[in-house]
Amino acid sequence: MKFTILTLFPEMVMTGLNESIIGRAKEKGIIDIEAVNIRDYTEDKHKKVDDYPYGGGAGMVMQAQPIYDAHKAVTANMQGMVRTVYLTPQGKVFNQDMAAELAQADNLVLLCGHYEGVDERVLEEVVTDYVSIGDFVLTGGELPAMVMVDAISRMVPGVLTNEESGTTESFHNYLLEYPQYSRPEEWHGRKVPDVLLSGHHKNIEDWRLSQSIERTRERRPDLYKKYMNSERK
Ligand code: ADE
Repeated sequence: MKFTILTLFPEMVMTGLNESIIGRAKEKGIIDIEAVNIRDYTEDKHKKVDDYPYGGGAGMVMQAQPIYDAHKAVTANMQGMVRTVYLTPQGKVFNQDMAAELAQADNLVLLCGHYEGVDERVLEEVVTDYVSIGDFVLTGGELPAMVMVDAISRMVPGVLTNEESGTTESFHNYLLEYPQYSRPEEWHGRKVPDVLLSGHHKNIEDWRLSQSIERTRERRPDLYKKYMNSERK
Protein backbone atom coordinates (compact mmCIF):
# COMPACT_ATOMS: atom_id res chain seq x y z
CA MET A 1 0.00 0.00 0.00
CA LYS A 2 1.27 3.45 -0.90
CA PHE A 3 0.56 6.69 0.97
CA THR A 4 1.31 9.97 -0.75
CA ILE A 5 0.98 13.07 1.40
CA LEU A 6 0.55 16.39 -0.38
CA THR A 7 1.68 19.10 2.03
CA LEU A 8 3.59 22.34 2.43
CA PHE A 9 5.53 20.72 5.29
CA PRO A 10 6.89 17.36 4.08
CA GLU A 11 9.60 17.12 6.76
CA MET A 12 7.06 17.50 9.53
CA VAL A 13 5.12 14.53 8.26
CA MET A 14 8.03 12.25 7.44
CA THR A 15 9.86 12.73 10.74
CA GLY A 16 6.89 11.31 12.59
CA LEU A 17 6.43 8.32 10.31
CA ASN A 18 9.99 6.99 10.15
CA GLU A 19 9.98 5.61 13.68
CA SER A 20 8.76 2.53 15.48
CA ILE A 21 6.27 0.14 13.89
CA ILE A 22 5.47 2.33 10.89
CA GLY A 23 9.16 2.96 10.23
CA ARG A 24 9.82 -0.77 10.41
CA ALA A 25 6.99 -1.52 7.95
CA LYS A 26 8.42 1.08 5.56
CA GLU A 27 11.87 -0.44 5.77
CA LYS A 28 10.44 -3.89 5.10
CA GLY A 29 8.64 -2.50 2.06
CA ILE A 30 5.15 -3.49 3.25
CA ILE A 31 4.00 0.11 3.01
CA ASP A 32 5.44 3.06 1.15
CA ILE A 33 5.08 6.62 2.40
CA GLU A 34 6.05 9.68 0.41
CA ALA A 35 5.53 13.33 1.29
CA VAL A 36 5.40 15.69 -1.68
CA ASN A 37 5.81 19.44 -1.34
CA ILE A 38 2.92 21.23 -3.05
CA ARG A 39 5.15 24.30 -3.40
CA ASP A 40 7.35 22.42 -5.87
CA TYR A 41 4.45 22.52 -8.33
CA THR A 42 3.54 26.21 -8.25
CA GLU A 43 3.83 28.11 -11.51
CA ASP A 44 4.23 31.37 -9.59
CA LYS A 45 7.69 32.84 -10.05
CA HIS A 46 7.88 33.74 -6.36
CA LYS A 47 6.85 30.19 -5.40
CA LYS A 48 3.61 31.49 -3.94
CA VAL A 49 0.89 28.89 -3.23
CA ASP A 50 -1.83 31.02 -1.61
CA ASP A 51 -3.78 34.21 -2.19
CA TYR A 52 -6.51 36.40 -0.69
CA PRO A 53 -10.05 35.02 -0.59
CA TYR A 54 -12.54 36.40 -3.10
CA GLY A 55 -15.27 38.19 -1.18
CA GLY A 56 -12.82 39.25 1.51
CA GLY A 57 -12.31 37.91 5.00
CA ALA A 58 -9.40 36.86 7.13
CA GLY A 59 -6.52 34.63 6.11
CA MET A 60 -5.27 33.20 2.86
CA VAL A 61 -6.57 30.45 0.62
CA MET A 62 -4.39 27.76 -0.97
CA GLN A 63 -4.70 28.09 -4.72
CA ALA A 64 -5.97 25.41 -7.05
CA GLN A 65 -3.11 25.22 -9.57
CA PRO A 66 -0.23 23.92 -7.41
CA ILE A 67 -2.46 21.35 -5.71
CA TYR A 68 -3.96 20.16 -8.97
CA ASP A 69 -0.57 19.78 -10.64
CA ALA A 70 0.96 18.05 -7.61
CA HIS A 71 -1.98 15.63 -7.51
CA LYS A 72 -1.78 14.98 -11.23
CA ALA A 73 1.96 14.29 -11.03
CA VAL A 74 1.75 11.87 -8.12
CA THR A 75 -1.26 9.94 -9.43
CA ALA A 76 -0.09 9.71 -13.05
CA ASN A 77 1.63 6.35 -12.67
CA MET A 78 -0.39 4.84 -9.85
CA GLN A 79 -1.65 1.28 -10.34
CA GLY A 80 -4.85 -0.02 -8.76
CA MET A 81 -7.38 1.79 -6.63
CA VAL A 82 -6.58 5.44 -5.78
CA ARG A 83 -8.44 7.41 -3.14
CA THR A 84 -7.74 11.06 -2.43
CA VAL A 85 -8.56 12.24 1.07
CA TYR A 86 -8.82 15.88 2.07
CA LEU A 87 -8.23 16.38 5.79
CA THR A 88 -10.77 18.84 7.16
CA PRO A 89 -12.93 19.34 10.26
CA GLN A 90 -15.84 19.28 7.77
CA GLY A 91 -15.19 15.64 6.90
CA LYS A 92 -16.65 12.36 8.09
CA VAL A 93 -15.17 11.53 11.50
CA PHE A 94 -12.36 8.98 11.30
CA ASN A 95 -12.70 5.73 13.25
CA GLN A 96 -11.47 2.14 13.26
CA ASP A 97 -14.02 0.97 10.68
CA MET A 98 -12.93 3.71 8.29
CA ALA A 99 -9.27 2.78 8.86
CA ALA A 100 -10.06 -0.83 7.92
CA GLU A 101 -11.97 0.27 4.85
CA LEU A 102 -9.28 2.67 3.60
CA ALA A 103 -6.65 -0.03 4.15
CA GLN A 104 -8.23 -1.80 1.14
CA ALA A 105 -7.02 0.92 -1.24
CA ASP A 106 -3.80 0.41 -3.18
CA ASN A 107 -2.99 4.11 -3.12
CA LEU A 108 -4.05 6.76 -0.67
CA VAL A 109 -3.33 10.40 -1.45
CA LEU A 110 -3.71 12.63 1.62
CA LEU A 111 -4.14 16.32 0.91
CA CYS A 112 -3.20 18.63 3.79
CA GLY A 113 -4.66 22.11 3.81
CA HIS A 114 -3.28 25.10 5.64
CA TYR A 115 -4.20 28.75 6.13
CA GLU A 116 -7.94 29.39 5.91
CA GLY A 117 -8.61 26.65 3.42
CA VAL A 118 -8.23 25.42 -0.10
CA ASP A 119 -9.87 26.74 -3.27
CA GLU A 120 -13.09 24.72 -3.50
CA ARG A 121 -12.71 24.05 -7.21
CA VAL A 122 -9.64 21.85 -6.89
CA LEU A 123 -11.29 19.89 -4.11
CA GLU A 124 -14.23 19.22 -6.43
CA GLU A 125 -11.85 17.87 -9.06
CA VAL A 126 -9.50 15.64 -7.06
CA VAL A 127 -11.00 14.67 -3.70
CA THR A 128 -12.88 11.38 -3.20
CA ASP A 129 -13.18 11.45 0.62
CA TYR A 130 -13.43 14.25 3.21
CA VAL A 131 -12.13 13.12 6.59
CA SER A 132 -11.93 14.77 10.03
CA ILE A 133 -10.04 13.25 12.95
CA GLY A 134 -12.38 14.79 15.50
CA ASP A 135 -14.44 17.81 16.46
CA PHE A 136 -11.63 20.27 17.01
CA VAL A 137 -9.75 22.59 14.69
CA LEU A 138 -6.04 22.15 14.00
CA THR A 139 -3.75 24.53 12.13
CA GLY A 140 -3.31 22.14 9.24
CA GLY A 141 -3.96 18.67 7.90
CA GLU A 142 -0.46 17.30 8.63
CA LEU A 143 -1.14 15.84 12.08
CA PRO A 144 -4.45 14.31 10.91
CA ALA A 145 -2.65 12.79 7.90
CA MET A 146 -0.07 11.23 10.23
CA VAL A 147 -2.84 9.88 12.45
CA MET A 148 -4.53 8.31 9.44
CA VAL A 149 -1.33 6.77 8.04
CA ASP A 150 -0.60 5.22 11.43
CA ALA A 151 -4.09 3.81 12.03
CA ILE A 152 -4.51 2.54 8.44
CA SER A 153 -1.00 1.04 8.21
CA ARG A 154 -1.55 -1.14 11.24
CA MET A 155 -4.52 -2.69 9.42
CA VAL A 156 -2.32 -3.67 6.45
CA PRO A 157 -1.35 -7.36 6.63
CA GLY A 158 2.25 -7.82 7.76
CA VAL A 159 2.66 -4.42 9.42
CA LEU A 160 2.00 -5.78 12.91
CA THR A 161 3.60 -8.98 14.11
CA ASN A 162 1.15 -11.70 15.19
CA GLU A 163 1.84 -10.80 18.77
CA GLU A 164 1.15 -7.11 18.21
CA SER A 165 -2.11 -7.64 16.35
CA GLY A 166 -3.37 -10.23 18.82
CA THR A 167 -3.34 -7.68 21.62
CA THR A 168 -5.06 -4.88 19.78
CA GLU A 169 -8.27 -6.24 18.37
CA SER A 170 -10.33 -4.65 21.09
CA PHE A 171 -11.77 -1.62 19.33
CA HIS A 172 -13.24 -3.87 16.71
CA ASN A 173 -15.95 -5.27 18.94
CA TYR A 174 -16.59 -1.90 20.60
CA LEU A 175 -14.72 -2.79 23.80
CA LEU A 176 -11.82 -0.95 25.37
CA GLU A 177 -8.65 -2.80 26.28
CA TYR A 178 -8.46 -4.52 29.71
CA PRO A 179 -5.80 -3.28 32.20
CA GLN A 180 -2.26 -4.68 31.85
CA TYR A 181 0.38 -5.37 34.48
CA SER A 182 4.05 -6.30 34.43
CA ARG A 183 6.76 -6.87 37.04
CA PRO A 184 7.02 -6.34 39.97
CA GLU A 185 4.05 -8.13 41.56
CA GLU A 186 3.72 -5.29 44.06
CA TRP A 187 4.50 -1.63 43.38
CA HIS A 188 3.69 1.36 45.65
CA GLY A 189 1.68 -1.08 47.76
CA ARG A 190 -0.49 -2.02 44.75
CA LYS A 191 -0.71 -5.72 43.94
CA VAL A 192 -1.27 -7.32 40.57
CA PRO A 193 -4.74 -8.98 40.58
CA ASP A 194 -4.39 -12.56 41.83
CA VAL A 195 -6.12 -14.11 38.84
CA LEU A 196 -3.30 -12.94 36.54
CA LEU A 197 -0.76 -14.88 38.63
CA SER A 198 -2.92 -18.01 38.78
CA GLY A 199 -1.90 -19.50 35.44
CA HIS A 200 -5.57 -20.42 34.90
CA HIS A 201 -6.12 -19.32 31.30
CA LYS A 202 -9.89 -19.56 31.23
CA ASN A 203 -10.24 -17.50 34.41
CA ILE A 204 -7.79 -14.92 33.09
CA GLU A 205 -9.71 -14.64 29.84
CA ASP A 206 -13.02 -14.23 31.72
CA TRP A 207 -11.52 -11.62 34.04
CA ARG A 208 -10.10 -9.61 31.14
CA LEU A 209 -13.39 -9.63 29.28
CA SER A 210 -15.32 -8.48 32.34
CA GLN A 211 -12.74 -5.71 32.94
CA SER A 212 -13.09 -4.62 29.31
CA ILE A 213 -16.86 -4.52 29.58
CA GLU A 214 -16.86 -2.64 32.90
CA ARG A 215 -14.24 -0.16 31.69
CA THR A 216 -16.16 0.51 28.49
CA ARG A 217 -19.41 1.02 30.42
CA GLU A 218 -17.74 3.54 32.74
CA ARG A 219 -15.50 5.43 30.35
CA ARG A 220 -17.27 5.17 27.00
CA PRO A 221 -21.01 4.71 27.47
CA ASP A 222 -21.45 5.45 23.75
CA LEU A 223 -19.29 2.44 22.79
CA TYR A 224 -20.90 0.31 25.48
CA LYS A 225 -24.28 0.85 23.88
CA LYS A 226 -22.90 -0.33 20.53
CA TYR A 227 -21.33 -3.35 22.21
CA MET A 228 -24.61 -4.28 23.89
CA ASN A 229 -26.39 -4.06 20.53
CA SER A 230 -23.71 -6.00 18.65
CA GLU A 231 -23.72 -9.66 17.70
CA ARG A 232 -20.41 -10.45 19.35
CA LYS A 233 -21.29 -10.02 23.01
N1 ADE B 1 -7.60 20.15 9.67
C1 ADE B 1 -7.80 21.01 10.68
N2 ADE B 1 -8.46 20.41 11.68
C2 ADE B 1 -8.70 19.13 11.30
C3 ADE B 1 -9.36 18.01 11.89
N3 ADE B 1 -9.91 18.07 13.09
N4 ADE B 1 -9.41 16.86 11.19
C4 ADE B 1 -8.86 16.79 9.98
N5 ADE B 1 -8.24 17.80 9.36
C5 ADE B 1 -8.15 18.97 10.01
